[in-house]
Parts: sequence; structure tokens; C-alpha cells
Amino acid sequence: MSKIENLKNELKALGSEYAKIKDLKAEQRSAFGAKLNAKKSAILKQIAELEATAQSAKVTPIDLTAPSAPNQPIPVIKQGTKHPLTTELERVTDIYSRMGFDVMESYQLDDEFHMFESLNFPADHPARDGYDTFRTSEGFIPPAHTSTMQHRALLKYKENLEKGGQIAVVIPGRVFRNEDVDATHEHTFYQCEGVFVSKDATMGQMLGLLKNFFETYYGQSLNIKTQPGYFPFTEPSVEFLIEKPKSLGGKGDGWLEMLGCGMVHPNVLSQAGIDPKEYRGFAWGGGIERLVMLKYHLNDIRYFESAKLDFLKEF
Ligand code: DAH
Repeated sequence: MSKIENLKNELKALGSEYAKIKDLKAEQRSAFGAKLNAKKSAILKQIAELEATAQSAKVTPIDLTAPSAPNQPIPVIKQGTKHPLTTELERVTDIYSRMGFDVMESYQLDDEFHMFESLNFPADHPARDGYDTFRTSEGFIPPAHTSTMQHRALLKYKENLEKGGQIAVVIPGRVFRNEDVDATHEHTFYQCEGVFVSKDATMGQMLGLLKNFFETYYGQSLNIKTQPGYFPFTEPSVEFLIEKPKSLGGKGDGWLEMLGCGMVHPNVLSQAGIDPKEYRGFAWGGGIERLVMLKYHLNDIRYFESAKLDFLKEF
């Protein structure tokens, strides 16, 4: 008989001992009962210990340091890949870096000053409502556009101007808007901002630079045009459009609005301590998803944040 079986029999035998309690005198009962209880728990403890040892004896130990046997199949490791937006954002910043732009990362939690005041949004101006801005209960702002970084970029790089150089920086980042989600709108998406300041920056330079960017990104020459726009932080402001290329599903008729841009407003420069009489700048900002959707013929922005593996595996 095994040790465990012996102990289990002892436990059973205890049962008839317990039955004797009722025949005892009242004053003897508690001491007798306590003795039985102690015996019972000692037995239960021993059983538990023996069972645990038996259990671990069944497990074959693995030598983690052993080299794999040559005739064993190599396990298939399913490796993840970068999210398509990460890959594309890297492509975008890479193109600008090769043009000489520095890259700065945007904040994911910002404030009223950087969202509005620093960008020449007058207090109580209706344009403030145009950004469907979220606010935390502490009064912070998850940025509704990467332009919130413009003031910081100007401050950070203004010493370039003092040394006779230029400010040339791009700022990719995640932005948030309190919008209804549909195939072309997300509450969380990505933008890339650009700021350039020099003694003689012009709109022509800006359009040439943006055309060059889009042609490099899509790997083909493109037709571009602008149409009037309004942003408090640029004057004049325009919207930048490309003609949908045939190779990307265009039929030679559609124009796509890719970003907003313009000459940096003098108030934005002077708020950062840059003299607008001496320096001029241009700036632009646009969504990354739109760029990527056109490139890969995607028709629903919601795929990006859907965590659908079938979708992600295609990249
Ligand atoms: N921040 C604007 C938006 O999200 C886009 C934009 C327009 C950025 C003009 C700029 C700019 O830097 O100069 O709608």
C-alpha cells in the first residue's frame, strides 16, 4: 500500500473517532475534538505534500541550454511586422531628411497656448471651433493638429537664423479630433507638419518642395494646384492638391486635397522672438492616412486602427 493510501485510511479511521464525541461528557468534548482536529490537519498536510511531489515527478525537466537535436523540426516563429503607418511615416520623414530637414517628435498631450494662442487664433475666434478639440478634465489638450509644435520648433531652431542659417524641420505626430468616425474620418490619426524659415522664403519654394515630396513618395511626376484656404497661422493660406495619377486609380479627372499650407503669419514668428521684418517662413501640415490610402488603394481609414491581422499582414 502506498504512503498516500495509508494516510487516507488513517483519515477514514478518524471518522469513527469523531463519532465518539457524542458519548463523552460535555466537559471532555472540546479537548477531545481539538486533538482529533490537530491529527486530521497533520494528515491532510502530509497528503498534500506527497501529492505535490508526485505531480512534479511526472514532469520531464527541460534542459534549456541543450543544443537542438538535428532531426527535430525547426519551430515556425510567427514574426510581427511594423504597422503600415509606422513604415510610411518613416518613409515620409526620410524624404524630408534627405532634403535637409530635421525631425522633431510631436507631443500627445498639449495645452491651450500651443493649440491656439501661439498660432494666432484670436481669443473666442470661431476658427477655434473648427478643430473639434478634445480636452482633459485637467484642461490639457490632446493636439488636434501637429501645428501645435510650430512654436516649439521655432524656439528650438531660431539660433540657426542667428548664425546666418535657416529653420527646416518636420514634425510627424498623432492627433485627435472629436469627430464621428466613418470611412474617411478617424478620431485618432497622424499628420506631418513642416516649418521652414529663412531671410527670403517664398511661396514658390514651398510649392516646389511639396511637389518634389509627393513625386518622390509616389515615385512619379504629378500635376499640382492650389486653392485658397484659411488658417489663422498662415497668410496667405492655401490648400495643396495633386491630380490623382492614372497608376493610382485616377481617370485623369480627380484632384485630391493633400494638405494645408501657407506663409507663416508674422504674429507666429514674433511670438517666438523672430523678427518678421527680417525673416519669412512657410509651413504645411497634412494627414498621413490619406497619403497611404492613395498609395495602397485603400478605401476605409478605419482599417489602420482596427487591429485586423488580415489587413496588417498585407504590409
Ligand atoms: N494644421 C492644419 C490642419 O490640420 C493644416 C495646416 C495648414 C498646417 C496650414 C500648416 C499650415 O502648417 O501652414 O488643418
